[in-house]
Amino acid sequence: MKISKVVFPVGGLGKRFFPITRAIPKEMLGIMDKPLIHYAFEEAMAAGIEKFIFVTRHGKDSIEDYFDYMFAHSEYFDIKIGSVCYVRQNEPLGLGHAVLCAKNLIGNEPFAVMSADDFILHSKSCLSEMIKCYDGSNMVATVSVAPQDVDKYGILDVDREMNKLLVAKSVDEKPSIKDAKSTYAIVGRYLLSHEIFCILENLKPGTGGEIQLTDALLRMIPSHGLVGFKFEGKRFDCGSKEGLLSAILNVANQDKTLHHIIKNFYEEQR
Ligand code: G1P
Repeated sequence: MKISKVVFPVGGLGKRFFPITRAIPKEMLGIMDKPLIHYAFEEAMAAGIEKFIFVTRHGKDSIEDYFDYMFAHSEYFDIKIGSVCYVRQNEPLGLGHAVLCAKNLIGNEPFAVMSADDFILHSKSCLSEMIKCYDGSNMVATVSVAPQDVDKYGILDVDREMNKLLVAKSVDEKPSIKDAKSTYAIVGRYLLSHEIFCILENLKPGTGGEIQLTDALLRMIPSHGLVGFKFEGKRFDCGSKEGLLSAILNVANQDKTLHHIIKNFYEEQR
């Protein structure tokens, strides 16, 4: 099934990276010479996405400036000029609310959502692999996390497994370790039916007082199902210092001109 639009929710405050995110959007933090949002954009492009919708807010103008520059110099950056739109999220009311802000730009078609701070390092685009398996059920990327980390994620309650796909019978946003039904966490890649907007419009705040996308997915299970896609490649939570550092090291290590720096560093520590 064709998916041609992606929503990038980039209105978050990036609190785990204060003070730098007081002045720089977390999506503009760099892995070597490219910001996180650039990698997400490339992954979407590789998946055939044609329309890129950024849900942004005050203080995030550098994202627009960055893509203006990229498109003006697209011949150097291997970036195609797609159709790019920016819509404002005036208050940080949660991921579900951010997605709802894009409603008028989506129309009656399924669409993708990508969180730039979930960086996935792989030769294939994770989003592209998901689209190949998409059959109209709401789909999320998923990975098994350590039990002590389940309270950081949306967690699937898995009914059955079919190769790369996990069919969920329920989903819970940031459960405690004792309430979690599995360790399969939602990673920031979603393929959603446009009907999610009706649910989001009527949703009450959930965990953390925010409008949670996970709660909308839960409500839609009877009508649209929910599947987790077990993606290939390494995922880094670049909304945390540990994740960003680890992503930088992994990317640098793949670069022949840089990996001696990492090797030398470890040798010096011995
Ligand atoms: C959001 C979602 C959560 C998901 C996570 C993935 O949480 O609400 O379900 O597992 O992204 O990164 P956040 O990290 O915004 O708190």
